[in-house]
Amino acid sequence: MTGAGTAIRVQPGAALRGTVSVPGDKSLSHRALILGALAEGASHVRGWLPAGDTLATLRCVQALGIAVERADATTLTVRGRGLGGLQAPAAPLNCVNAGTAIRLLAGVLAGQPFASTLDGSEQLRRRPMRRITEPLRQMGAQIADTEGHAPLHIRPATLRGMVHRLPIASAQVKSGILLAGLFADGPTTVSEPGPARDHTERMLRAMSAQLVVDGFRVTLTPGAPLRPLDLTVPGDPSSAAFLAAAALLVPGSEVVLRGVCLNPRRLGMYELLRRQGARISWSQTGLAGGEPVGDLTVCSSEVRPFRVDAPQVPSMIDELPLVALLASQANGRSEISGAAELRTKESDRLACVARGLRLLGVLVEERPDGLVIDGSARLAAPALPLASAGDHRMAMTWAVAGLIAEGNLLLDGAGSVAVSYPGFFADLRALGARVEGFEGGGGGSDERG
Ligand code: S3P
Repeated sequence: MTGAGTAIRVQPGAALRGTVSVPGDKSLSHRALILGALAEGASHVRGWLPAGDTLATLRCVQALGIAVERADATTLTVRGRGLGGLQAPAAPLNCVNAGTAIRLLAGVLAGQPFASTLDGSEQLRRRPMRRITEPLRQMGAQIADTEGHAPLHIRPATLRGMVHRLPIASAQVKSGILLAGLFADGPTTVSEPGPARDHTERMLRAMSAQLVVDGFRVTLTPGAPLRPLDLTVPGDPSSAAFLAAAALLVPGSEVVLRGVCLNPRRLGMYELLRRQGARISWSQTGLAGGEPVGDLTVCSSEVRPFRVDAPQVPSMIDELPLVALLASQANGRSEISGAAELRTKESDRLACVARGLRLLGVLVEERPDGLVIDGSARLAAPALPLASAGDHRMAMTWAVAGLIAEGNLLLDGAGSVAVSYPGFFADLRALGARVEGFEGGGGGSDERG
């Protein structure tokens, strides 16, 4: 796998054309492992995402005594041992950079009859954990964080079912609480302020858990054993977004993205851009594990300026850096607000986007919870490399910018794309983009299927 230090050079070039099957959805790939581990028997998972974050979850699940066989990079059998089948890990569980892994596993481990520690990289240790440890403690969990951060030390406890009202729309927190609810003494309800992604609910339902959804309120009643999964993971709409944005921006492009998860709670960016004049269309071709799946077609387009406010943020949370880049090419001023959550991701994405766009020549105002971006900007590659800040989504955003910026855009830390999309640069090249490694950089992937 390419190192985080990989450096890439991107240049403007010809139109992007072709068809890509984007890698499996990251959220679903984490959940297939964690829920598969708790199922009664073998779950069969195809199209799984082999990337930095999900491989961390795979190792954690194995350290909890679950056998996982890999027929190839993307095909897994998870030998679930039921709700009472996890074993005490011999050492702290290393979630590396994966926020989803640490927050979902915290919920599962809070209800186990053994002690465990969840930890991760320096980057993960900087991210806020009270949002999950506090609700779990209210349920009776014995969980100590480190001044609100990882490592998290968990001791055996009896969990009470209860009603939680989340102050932020977070699928990770909602999921961690629901997973703890599987081990509680009564029903657990989570009420969310907005539509965070609902993959855990859909997967739990597909596994026969007793779950009732009423608007933004989910109630799980424990007791039912989980049936194993038989799942083909659809493509990740958040990974597809980078290729879609590239196709929108590079004149004359037409790109088809096959087999993408079309869960409505993940399509906010696509819907916004379509409303603003982008030629993007999608159609459902099937269902996988309770999720709609289909193909997306994207043609280069002019986009009108737009506003994104708090209610729309969860449906495009991981795409917002890209949305900001697209705003710089709209024909007017755009505004993103209610997006302070972006400061808690792998990097402070509001600060990183503002800094990077300015270096590219865009007029940007950074606000505590958003950005104001002047459109119709002529991007020019800065003389010095842009930095990914070790953040996969920033690296991919700047690579897309390089396709329309005058000159050679140099990107440091390009290898961080391996966290979610190891084959990103190879797929961009296959569509015709001019992307090459420099100073020993490579940029292709070596673990994909
Ligand atoms: C995820 C939820 C989102 C998203 C992250 C994956 C998940 O985080 O940003 O990449 O798999 O549940 P929050 O729920 O904290 O917003």
